[in-house]
Amino acid sequence: MLIAQITDMHVKRPGSPALEGVDTAACLERCVAHINAMERQPEVVLATGDLVAEGSAEEYAILRRALAPLRAPLYVIPGNHDDRDRLREAFSDHDYLPKDSPFLHYVIEGYPVRLIALDTVIPGEDGGRLCAERLAWLEARLAAAPDRPTVIFMHHPPFVTGMDHLDRIGCEGGAALGAVIARNPQVERVLCGHIHRPIQVRWHGTIASTGPSTGLQMALELRPDGPFRWSFEPPACQLHLYRPEVGVISHLSYIGDFDRPQPTTPMA
Ligand SMILES: [Fe+2]
Repeated sequence: MLIAQITDMHVKRPGSPALEGVDTAACLERCVAHINAMERQPEVVLATGDLVAEGSAEEYAILRRALAPLRAPLYVIPGNHDDRDRLREAFSDHDYLPKDSPFLHYVIEGYPVRLIALDTVIPGEDGGRLCAERLAWLEARLAAAPDRPTVIFMHHPPFVTGMDHLDRIGCEGGAALGAVIARNPQVERVLCGHIHRPIQVRWHGTIASTGPSTGLQMALELRPDGPFRWSFEPPACQLHLYRPEVGVISHLSYIGDFDRPQPTTPMA
């Protein structure tokens, strides 16, 4: 099974100066074309939040247009830049999204890997939270299938990234989630967004990670209390390949044309 992960698309109105003026909708269109052109198609595409920049209905309409050509089934969760109600409205044809829950969390069955989506949003705040109610929901879902390989996806990373300015808007309840994960070794991965960079960490018996943005990246900054800066590193998506004999193997796939003439002398 191949899982593609796209994140932090921050789709915005044309001409908006946000995110250094980058046309994030055009970036997403290139990402969709990139995934559609893959010779091995992903079984699913997971979009891990911050789908749009300001949570407006207009932005969600632009988002849906950019995503429309995507061939693989798409599953979305909100990030801090999203608006739950407008997201629900814009994706009202996505039947997996719960209609009667305050949180947009859900389980996707029917694939070799069980997929569990978490909702870390606190409306109006940049940071996220997994409250007791959301953690209890997760614990019950995990208890229902303790032997099935499972991937959890969520927007805010529950782990310390070492980028202090972003850890200040991290995920409350991360330690409590870690305790749940430690009791559930079937969790192969915890896939996150929010940081606009690829990061991996061994975490409570699983591997937790964040992915690069399809639009604009954040500059790598590991000095204590270092400044926030954007970076024009290439956009990318992630590919998580599941093989039963190995588990999940994660790859980064840069979006763009990187073909060059091949070297004429054979490489050692
Ligand atoms: Fe975010």
